[in-house]
Formats: sequence, structure tokens, C-alpha cells
Amino acid sequence: MIVLGIESSCDETAAAVVSDDREILGEVVLSQEEHKKFGGVVPEVAARAHLEHIDEIIELTLKKAGVKPQELDAIAASSGPGLIGGVVVGVMAAKALALALNKHFVAVNHLEGHALTARLTAGVTYPYLLLLVSGGHCQILVVKDVGQYERLGTTIDDAAGEAFDKVAKMLNLGYPGGPMIEKLADQGNENRFSLPHPLQNSGDLNLSFSGLKTAVRKIIESYSPDGKVEHAILPKQDVADICACFQKTATECLLIKLERAIKYFKANYPDGNDLVVAGGVAANSYLRMALERLAKNNKLTFAAPPIRYCTDNGVMIAWAGLERFQKGLTNSLNFKPRPRWPLDENAPKAAGAGGVKA
Ligand code: KG4
Ligand code: ZN
Repeated sequence: MIVLGIESSCDETAAAVVSDDREILGEVVLSQEEHKKFGGVVPEVAARAHLEHIDEIIELTLKKAGVKPQELDAIAASSGPGLIGGVVVGVMAAKALALALNKHFVAVNHLEGHALTARLTAGVTYPYLLLLVSGGHCQILVVKDVGQYERLGTTIDDAAGEAFDKVAKMLNLGYPGGPMIEKLADQGNENRFSLPHPLQNSGDLNLSFSGLKTAVRKIIESYSPDGKVEHAILPKQDVADICACFQKTATECLLIKLERAIKYFKANYPDGNDLVVAGGVAANSYLRMALERLAKNNKLTFAAPPIRYCTDNGVMIAWAGLERFQKGLTNSLNFKPRPRWPLDENAPKAAGAGGVKA
């Protein structure tokens, strides 16, 4: 069984073909450079760029995979949540292919793509505890099965990646900020500034990064002659120190809640063995190492997708599409892309109840 997956929900135009024996047959990722000068993704610019490149990306992916369109069993597209202009481009491309080839269309929740990637790359089995940390989301979930999630906690303000991006913007490090912060943090003193751990005593598993970001802002403002972040003049070493302290504190915030989530997971899912991290921020090596230690201390196996499959890609959509297709969870061509689509709302629907072959 082979499935084509298309991703276009943010600033990556990507496609991939995967097979049910967990083989990645071909893939292409185009990261849009257009947004760099704006310090963040501009939705309209992203949508136009997706439209311009989607056909060639799909064609190249199939060519790399050595697969003819007729040989595909299903076509999956990232169908939300995300920037709706881009999502529509990918969904329409997938529907058009499904219709023309008389194949199944599968609407994949972008977050489910991230959530299931470790099953492709590491063969993780259900149920598992998942930390999902991307540019738009930050959640702790139990993945029970395809489309079946128990959300244990979520951010009440900024997503983890968003906090990395905002701190990077204040330090003039460009977009996306995560990779640059990680790089500079390597040369910094992570104990120089003491930063807050918002919600650490909240008693629930929710997270918050906005207070952390504000604390960083105040430090940067102290380097400015007029108190404005834009005018701050920071020595290189101080930038590195701020990056290191922020990265350490953000990681600690996640660990504090995960520690508790693990207790809940072990008590309620005794069959579960794995702690998995997914989403763009999962590319961060400092976080990965901390999570590996946490898993080991709690006798869980740690699994993280290879770094290139943490940030947005077509492979994750193809794989989630394949898992859904295997369960008969296909969608009709009337499916409407969803700008908002909580993962724990993603209850499976039988093919007969609306999902049919195109
Ligand atoms: O999953 P993703 O590619 O897109 C979304 O679905 O949001 O995640 C992008 C986010 C950005 O906020 C980016 O700064 C962050 O992931 N990110 C990182 C690293 N690489 C990417 N954050 C921290 N450390 C990294 N190495
Ligand atoms: Zn993503």
C-alpha cells in the first residue's frame, strides 16, 4: 500500500510517498524563503508561494519515488489546522488528484501528522505519551490510537515554538528563531539570568510561556538607552547567555509538567512504554537530551523523529494518511479545510459515514 502526502499548512510546501512497510519512497520539502525579511510567516505570501510550487513538488516527489500516479492507493493532505490559504492549496491539489485518478482522499490533521511520525521512524506502538511542541501548538497528550487522543495539558498562551521565535525576534536573530537560539545557547551561560517558570504550581498539566517571554524582554530592555527592545545594544556573549537561559527555562517548564503527566500515564495506561516528542521544537537537541533523561529515570523508552521529520514535511502527512486509510478513515471530496482543528476532537469516522472513494 502506498500513499502520497501533501503538506502546505504553514511555510513548507512538501510532499512524500510512503508505504505500509514503513518505507519512505520519495520526498521533497521546499522551505519558503520569502518570509525571512518579515520576521514571521505572512499568510498571503505563503499561500501564493504554495500555489506556485505545489504541482512541481508533487511531480518531483513521484519521480523520486519511482511511482506512477495510478499506483497510489490514496492521496492525503494536511487539511488543518493552519494558515487557511495554504491549507486550501494542498487540499485542492489532493482532491483533484483523487478525483482524476479515482483514488481515496484522506484529510489529515496536521497535528496528527506530527503525532504519528515516531510510529513510522521508530515503530512506536500505541498507547504512548506525547509532547507536541511546534510553532503553533504545545500540548501533552496520550496517543491511544489513530484519531484517538486524550489531551492532558495545553499552553494557555504562546506555543513553545512561538516563544522561541518571539525571543529570537527581540534579539534580532531572524526567523524561524528556534534553530538560531539553540546554536547561540551552546556558547552561553545557562545560569546567568534567573527566569520564571509560569504555572509550575498550578496543579494541572497546562503550560504558559508568555511570562517567560516577558521576563526575557525586560532583560533585553535593560540594555537599551531608551528602554525599547529595538534599540537594545547587547554584547555577543550576553545574547548567547540570554539564549541559553531561555532554552534551559523553557525546557524545565516542559519537564515539570511532563513529570506529572508520566505519573498519570503510567497509572492509567499500564500498557504504554514510550515517551515521544514531536513538532518543530522537537528538533532542539537540548530538549531531546533532557527528555531522554526524563524517560530513562521513569523507565520509559524515549522516541523522537530524526530532526528533519520534526519540522513540517510531507512524510508525516503521508504516514498519518496511510494509517487512517488502513482503518478506512477516508474523506469525501466535500471535506472542508479547517483553520482550527483540535486533535482530541479528531474522533475516527467510519468510511461509510461520509468518507467514500472519490
Ligand atoms: O512543526 P513546525 O515546523 O511548524 C508548525 O507546525 O508550527 O514548527 C516550527 C517551529 C518554529 O517555531 C521554530 O522556531 C521551531 O519549530 N523550531 C525550533 C527548532 N527548530 C525549529 N525550536 C527550538 N529549537 C530548534 N532547533
Ligand atoms: Zn507543524
